[in-house]
Order: sequence, then structure tokens, then C-alpha cells
Amino acid sequence: MDTEITTQARAGLRIGDTLPDFEARSTIGPVKLSAFRGRWLILFSHPADFTPVCTTEFVELSSQADEFERRDCALMALSVDSLFSHFAWLRLIRDRFGIEVRFPIVEDPTLVIGRAFGMVAPQDNDSAAVRTTFFVDPTGVIRAMTCYPASVGRSIPEMLRMLDALMAIDESGGLAPANWQVGAPLLRAPTNDLDEVYGASEETGWFLRDMPGGRKQ
Ligand code: BEZ
Repeated sequence: MDTEITTQARAGLRIGDTLPDFEARSTIGPVKLSAFRGRWLILFSHPADFTPVCTTEFVELSSQADEFERRDCALMALSVDSLFSHFAWLRLIRDRFGIEVRFPIVEDPTLVIGRAFGMVAPQDNDSAAVRTTFFVDPTGVIRAMTCYPASVGRSIPEMLRMLDALMAIDESGGLAPANWQVGAPLLRAPTNDLDEVYGASEETGWFLRDMPGGRKQ
């Protein structure tokens, strides 16, 4: 594997960080992270192949592949398992569920990527503890991240909603409120101007106010 990542791995990546580049083997051939610049990318780790929750995630993600494509968002999975384990698992998923997983699954047998990216805790010898997801914008910057336990599968509708919200706030400069969905109003940023605070007609009008429109579909 060719990688910019060193063993002096950072303690983990945070929102606002640029993902370090790496090149690794995957189920669609060698992949280089930087080649995905220009599109949104969801990079996510899964604890292990041939496990129940992970299998449901891969079936659901693949069945929603068109929705990610429509948002110009690539998917990339990563686990400690070998390339041949990934292949065998994908074949089983295809045969059992009739779904072909076409997004790349990277092998990370030494956990060098998982550790450097903070997807695996430095003290862990396997990746079974967590499901980490990075939402990466077209410039390679992490815009959101989630961390679920191995025992709880990720929500694919929530992944799509997160992408929609990030795109909508980029387009409008607004803020996405709780439970926001495409088409609902965004919020305006609060004012920094005391005159606007005193001049607002409602008591919350200077900091809690709608912005017209959502992302156009
Ligand atoms: C699962 O995907 O089902 C799983 C993976 C690792 C530990 C426990 C469950």
C-alpha cells in the first residue's frame, strides 16, 4: 500500500480536517483517495465482513446506490478483512439478496488507515469496536462524522439527509434545524448587531428565524 499516512498517526481526524491521501487495494482495484476529489465521498469503516449488522448495512447502501449517485456522492468502505474475504462476502450477499455491491471496499489488514483516521482506537487490535463514517466534501474536507457501536447499524436515510443538509447549507449559507428535510426552510445565522436584537419584532426573531427555500431537487 502506498500512503501519506505515517505511523506517527494523528490522534484522529476531526470536522474541518482534510483527509490524508492513501492508495490501497479494494474490491474494484487499487483506489487512491485523492482521485475522489471533485465529488462528495462517504468513507466508512465496518467492523468485519460476514457479520449480521454489517451485512444489512451493505445491502441497504447498495439498494440506495442511485440516491447517492444522484447526489454525486461516492461510497467507500474499509475494514481489516482481506480483499479475498471482501470478495467472498460480496458474492454471498449477491447470491442471498440479489444485490451487487459495486462501491469499493478497501482492505486495511494492518489497520494503518483505520488507526490514522481515528476509525479504530490506537489501543485496539481489531476494528470490531466501532462503525465510523466520514462525510467528505468535494475539496477533501471532512464536513461531518459519526461513530456508532458495532451493535447498531447506521441509518441510510440519515446519511442521505446529512448529505442533503450539507449541500443545502453550502448553497444558501443557512443552517439546518433539527429534523430538517429537503424542501423545508433553513435557518438564518443569528445577527451580531445589537440594533437588530432590540429591533426584532419577536423576542426570538434576532437569533431563531427562517431562511426561505431549501435545496432545489
Ligand atoms: C455485526 O456487524 O453484526 C457485528 C460486527 C462486529 C461485532 C458485533 C456485530
